[in-house]
Formats: sequence, structure tokens, C-alpha cells
Amino acid sequence: MLVDTHCHLGADQFDEDRAAVVKRASAAGVAHIIVVADSEPATTRAIELARRFDLSATAGVHPHEASAWNSNVAAKIEAALNNPLVVAVGETGLDYHYDHSPRQAQRVAFAAQLELGERHSLPVVVHSRSADADMVAMLRDTGASYILHSFSSGPEVLEIALAAKAYVSFSGMVTFNSWSDSEAVRAVPADRLLVETDGPYLAPTPHRGKRNEPAFVREIALKVAEIRAESPHDIEEQTSQNAVACFGTRIQVKQPQ
Ligand code: NI
Repeated sequence: MLVDTHCHLGADQFDEDRAAVVKRASAAGVAHIIVVADSEPATTRAIELARRFDLSATAGVHPHEASAWNSNVAAKIEAALNNPLVVAVGETGLDYHYDHSPRQAQRVAFAAQLELGERHSLPVVVHSRSADADMVAMLRDTGASYILHSFSSGPEVLEIALAAKAYVSFSGMVTFNSWSDSEAVRAVPADRLLVETDGPYLAPTPHRGKRNEPAFVREIALKVAEIRAESPHDIEEQTSQNAVACFGTRIQVKQPQ
């Protein structure tokens, strides 16, 4: 049994066969999927999909979309947090690699969403790329609980997260030949470890270059188990329990049909 803690199931790439994708995940032993939003319209969509497939959703604005953040969007995201299908704020954070939104706008949207998470007692899904110094400064200041999603940051970001007892989620990047941070995979305490696909992006080996989907989270769990020298069964059980502890009992880990 596995939980895919981060999939953009609302993305266009799933329009042709979304129901089949969910079915394949279930058949592969993926008991639950968190449908992650990256904008205000995507939040509405994520909630709709969570309702349709009995999954969970997040509500938030990605750093790429941070230019769109304003008081109207903030109010809509906050209203969505009252929906019982919504289990987290985000994804939000900082991405200074692409800089699709100005950095100042990214920081404003991220700070506001950290504050929403804290106020609503919901974890915040954090995207962090090429922004370690500002990320460390902002995480140090927050009282929100959070998840470092698709972890690929440096040791300072990991250190602050582990000190705060945050969760750290690994994606298909750990299966790439270019992955060089096995130390981070081993450094996360067992009870803070999560796995995710980040589908439709970042498909793990041997699916690299193709569309990623929740069924592939198994390849990621297997690689994490190998790096940590633990049994795949233990990693599956532990990360599923952690998903419930992090996101709440809505992430019921059901027996696959
Ligand atoms: Ni994502």
C-alpha cells in the first residue's frame, strides 16, 4: 500500500484518460492520491477531482503563478481551506531557477500561504528550487507545519526542515542517474519520510521522459528503500502511515481492490 502525496491530476496531460489513471493506481496498490493545485482555478479543479474519485486536494498558488496572487485570490484559497476534501495549503514556495514570477511576488505569496497554513492548522506543501538562502530564512520564521516536496535542495534547507520536524518527500528524481544526494534520502527520520510522483512531471526510471502517473510511485518507494537499505515493505508501510499523520485521517489507507 502506498500514498502518492503529490500529483497534479488536474493537469491537461491527464484529460484523455484520468479515470483509467486513477484505476491503474488503485490496481498498483496506491491507496490514496493527493491532488495538488498550483493556482486558484486549479484549486477548484483539484477539489472537484477529489470529490469525483474520493481523493484529497490541496489549495494554493505555485511560485510560477505567484504574480497572480492578490487579496481576491487569497480569499478564495482561504475559503477552499474550509472544504473537508482539502488537506493542505500549496503548492507554494520559491523557484529562482525559472523565475516565472518576480522573486518579490514569490516571497509575498509564499509568506501569505505559510500564514494560512499556520492559521488553519494545515500543512503547507513547499516547492523549493535554487532559492536556498531565502527559503531557509522564510522557513525559520514560520510556525506552520510543512512538507518539502520533491526534495532537491541543499543541506541548509534540509537541516532547518528536520529541526522543525517537517516532512520531506522524494520524487522520481531519486531514480535518475544524475541524482547525487543519497545522503539526504538517508538523513530523513523514518517518521518524516514521504513519497510522491509529482505527476505528470518527473517520471521515474524506467518511465523517464514519459508522462508520470500515481501508479509509478512504487518505483520511487523501491529506490528510497534501496538507498536507505530498508525493505520495500517497510518503506511502503512507513510512508503511508506518515501520510496519514501529516495530512490527516482523510488519507485513509485502504486495501487495494
Ligand atoms: Ni508539483
